This record gives sequence, C-alpha cells and structure tokens, in this order.
Amino acid sequence: MSTPRGEFTSRFGFLMASSGSAVGLGNIWGFPTNTASNGGAAFLFAYLILVFALAYPVLMAELIIGRHAQANAVTALQSISSGKKSRLLALVVGFTGIITVSFILSFYAVVSGWMIAHFFDPLARLFGMDGLAQWLTRDAVVRNSLFVALFMVITIYIISAGVKDGIEKWASRLMPSLIIILLLLVFYVLTLPGASEGLRAYLVPDFSRITDPALLVNAMGQAFFSLSLGVGTMLVYGSYISKQENLPVVGGLVALLDIGIAVLAGMLILPAMYVALGNGVEIFDADGGLIAGPGLIISVLPALFSTMGAIGIPVAIAFFLLMTIASLTSSISMLEVPVAYGVEHLGVERRKVAMIVGTVITFISLLIVFNFDPLFDLVVTATTEYSQPLLGLFFCIFVAWIWRRNDILEEIKQGNSQVESGIFWKIWPVYIKFVCPLAILIVYFQ
Ligand code: PFF
Repeated sequence: MSTPRGEFTSRFGFLMASSGSAVGLGNIWGFPTNTASNGGAAFLFAYLILVFALAYPVLMAELIIGRHAQANAVTALQSISSGKKSRLLALVVGFTGIITVSFILSFYAVVSGWMIAHFFDPLARLFGMDGLAQWLTRDAVVRNSLFVALFMVITIYIISAGVKDGIEKWASRLMPSLIIILLLLVFYVLTLPGASEGLRAYLVPDFSRITDPALLVNAMGQAFFSLSLGVGTMLVYGSYISKQENLPVVGGLVALLDIGIAVLAGMLILPAMYVALGNGVEIFDADGGLIAGPGLIISVLPALFSTMGAIGIPVAIAFFLLMTIASLTSSISMLEVPVAYGVEHLGVERRKVAMIVGTVITFISLLIVFNFDPLFDLVVTATTEYSQPLLGLFFCIFVAWIWRRNDILEEIKQGNSQVESGIFWKIWPVYIKFVCPLAILIVYFQ
C-alpha cells in the first residue's frame, strides 16, 4: 500500500532506523573517551541515570508529538499549539532545530570523511599502493574536502530514495552489520595483551568524581547527543511509526540499544588503547590524561593497527568500516529533518530538496574544512552544548505545558490501550512537566 507520507513498514525497520540515528560517532568515539577522562565507571553510572531520567522522557516527547502530527518538526509543533503565541514559539523552536541539525551534520560530515579516508588506507596498502595510502592518511584540505563531498553524496542518495526505500532499507542492512563487526572487534581486542588493563580503566569507578559538575554536564551533553534529541530527528522518525506501535516500549528499546552499543564500544576502544600502549604507542597527552580528541581515532588506533602485523590490515578495515556505518546511519537521520520540512511544507519533490539542502550543508562543511581551527570547535560547542539541551527543554514545555493532556493520552493509547493504568502514564507526565525542565536547567547552568 502506498501512503502519501513515508512510513516504516515494521517495528524492526523503525528500531534499526532510530537506533541507527542514535548510534554514531557519539557512541563509538565520544562515549568511551568521555568515560575514560571522567572517572571511568562513575561516568557510566551518571550517564545511565541521566539517559533514563532525562533523555528517555524527552525522546518519548519527540516520538509522541511526531506520531500524533504525522508531520515534520515545524508543522508538528504548531499542530499541538492552539494559541497565537505558542504557534509562534513552535515556529521558532522547529526552525532552530532544523538549523541546529544542519550544522551538526556539517561538522559530522567532516569527521565522517576522515573515517572513509582511513577505511581506504589499509585497502590501498593491501594492494601495494603505498603512495595512495600515505595521501589518504595525511590531514590535508584536499583530502578532507573530497571525502566530505563523498560522504554527503551517499547521505543525499539514501535520503532521496525516501523513508522505506532509503532510510529503512539501508538502516536494516547497516545496523546488523555494525553490531556484528563491533562484537567481532571487541572479542578480538580483548584477547590481546594489555586489554585487561584498559578494561580496568574503563570499568573501575572513581566515585570521587560523581558530584563534579563537569562530569554531569558532559554526561548530559553525551546523553542528548547520543539519543539525537532536541533537533527534531526523533520527532520526524516518530512521524513514520505505525499507529499500532506501543510507543513507550519502542522508545525504551531505542534507548537500550543506544546504551548497549556505547557500553560495548567502550569495551573495544579503551582496551585497544592499552594494547597500543603495550606496543609502544603514546596514549597519554601532555596533561597525563588519555588522548581523547581526533588524535585517538586517527592516530592512536591506526598506530596500534600498524603494530599488529598482517592481522592489522583486516582489523583496520573492519574498524573504519564500523565508524563509517555508524556515521552514515546518523547522518541520514539528520538530513531527513530539513528534507521532511521542504517536502511537506514547501511541496518540493524529495529528491530536489535532498539535493539542495545537502549541497548547502556540504558547502558549510567545506567552510569548516578550510577554516578548521576557528570553526570546528565553535560549531560543535554551539550546537551540541548549547542548542541541543535548550531545544530539549522546549520539547518538554510543548508536551507538558502547551499540548492538551487528553490528546497525549489518546495518542499513546493507540498501540497501547492499557497505558493509563501502567507505570509510564503515572510517572512520565509529571516528570516531563517539572523534573526534566528543572534538571536540564540546573545542569545547563552548571
Ligand atoms: N546520535 C548521533 C551520535 O551519537 O553520533 C549524533 C546525532 C544524530 C545527533 C542525529 C543529532 C542528530 F539529530
């Protein structure tokens, strides 16, 4: 049956697409390094609490609004607002989300471009093309520009194909592959000498850090970024879920998959770093902390792979394939936010909007590549540390203070007729009304 709007055809399709959005560089790179530099398992502990206490309720708000409105972020927020002022606020919040997610994609594409270049490096070495391999690993503007463009072309291609034939089809292929590659890598790395020390650095908690405001701010930022919240991504994916789905359950599954993969990634990255240490690779920075920034993925780990002998090549290929897949399933969800708006609100054909918006974002990415030092950190901080949590706060306000409670209940009841007597409906409405906004504000102003 063809529907005027796209729709995920199954629960599996939705789960793969939305966990694909959630699982990205933030899980495989951000989470393990944040954990290592913030007191090990103490960070993990704070993160788990924040995901369930703050991020899951906001995720539910987005999914419920999206499925109710069956529309893009701007139209959806407006449809649940009845007054003039709240409709205006809906417009502002919806648009800020679209702009924020476009900027997130612009820096994400730069990093994803590095991942593709590093994926081709061991392949080039495999075929004896050492000159090409060197070019692929040298951080240069030309290389970065080409791979940003390549990454964006793939993202635009998938989004052009639509919800079912683009997003769902590719997420359903890529996510299971990602999980299999990750598991194989974890099992392999854990057999190497030094891995257990890395595991210890990851899992032994330093609870003296748990009240550190920096730890809480990092954990909240990580939770919001990781669940792709605040920018309308989950709202738009929610708008493609069938009315028969039980929203609190599928939302919970997405959060669990996201956390599970982040925790698993920690069992790969930190042990790998300590294996690298044993092989003579420097893993600490000048301050004595673990190297966490771009250096970790594009110098420490490649240095480790090159000390592994012949097995290093397939391991490097698998690792950077993993990173590329993780980036791609997230980037498509980002591009879908402005594209859904263009298709529904402006009535432009999907392929055209995807091309136009994708090209504009590619140009912003190139601007970042050409002015890396002043722009990269600025864009990352403005979008993920400032904009995302604030937008998350506004989603809480829309659901709890602007939307009518009965309408919310009616929406959740579809696919979950008993919800009124269950624990979700007893806790979530109060929670999203008072606890979430307050907690976000407190952590934000820390
Ligand atoms: N959740 C992704 C990650 O952890 O890498 C990043 C992300 C995806 C952020 C989609 C925002 C977004 F809309």
